[in-house]
Amino acid sequence: MTKLGLSVDEVLSTTRAVRKRLDVTRPVSRELIEECLDLALQAPNGSNRNTWRWIIVDDPAMIAKLADEYKAAMGLLNDGTMPTPNPIGTSDRDARILESAHALVEKLDKMPAILIPLMPGRPDGTDAITQASMWGSIVQAVWSFMLALRERGLGSIWATVTSRREKEIAELLGIPFEEYTQVGFFPIAYTEGTQFKKAWRKPVEDVLSYNGF
Ligand SMILES: Cc1cc2nc3c(=O)[nH]c(=O)nc-3n(C[C@H](O)[C@H](O)[C@H](O)COP(=O)(O)O)c2cc1C
Repeated sequence: MTKLGLSVDEVLSTTRAVRKRLDVTRPVSRELIEECLDLALQAPNGSNRNTWRWIIVDDPAMIAKLADEYKAAMGLLNDGTMPTPNPIGTSDRDARILESAHALVEKLDKMPAILIPLMPGRPDGTDAITQASMWGSIVQAVWSFMLALRERGLGSIWATVTSRREKEIAELLGIPFEEYTQVGFFPIAYTEGTQFKKAWRKPVEDVLSYNGF
């Protein structure tokens, strides 16, 4: 399995939401996905109960159906355009994200694979501790999976827009909706080139305080 040999800090600071640079022409082996998942499953989870489930979709016909659900979740109009107003925001950065999100939609039906991680139960209406335990027992593993992809020259996007179509996707994939919550939707493909930069974030001093709020 070819690895890029990035340092931990490089992997942590350059694992981006990749949309335009996903190479949908290059197949991704199950072996590679399973290697990344094997690493991801080392993430912490409540009481080490391993109650997560992981669905990889690599059947082209099912991927095309999921791509249709993604489009529906994005609220795209029949001609493929986004209804106004812009649902993200009004800055240049927001506009770039939206453009990139559209670029993804256009090639989603050709994606080599898609990951849908599942956590047991439904968070709807539960208290904060229950929710914290539920989400906290899976998000680290999902992020580890994305980091493992990055080190192997692949990319993904953490997408939650599909939760708007969670029932429809559950039906397509035979997921018992009342028993499992879809954590998100993660396209998987090799990236075009492997150079990625640090992204803009608010600086530490703007978001950190010591010994109190
Ligand atoms: C919880 C969460 C939900 C997201 N949902 C979507 C989504 O539905 N569609 C999408 O294209 N990107 C989605 N993203 C990706 C973000 O837009 C992206 O991470 C952000 O713009 C920062 O870019 P970067 O990850 O490359 O630094 C999501 C990211 C997170 C963490």
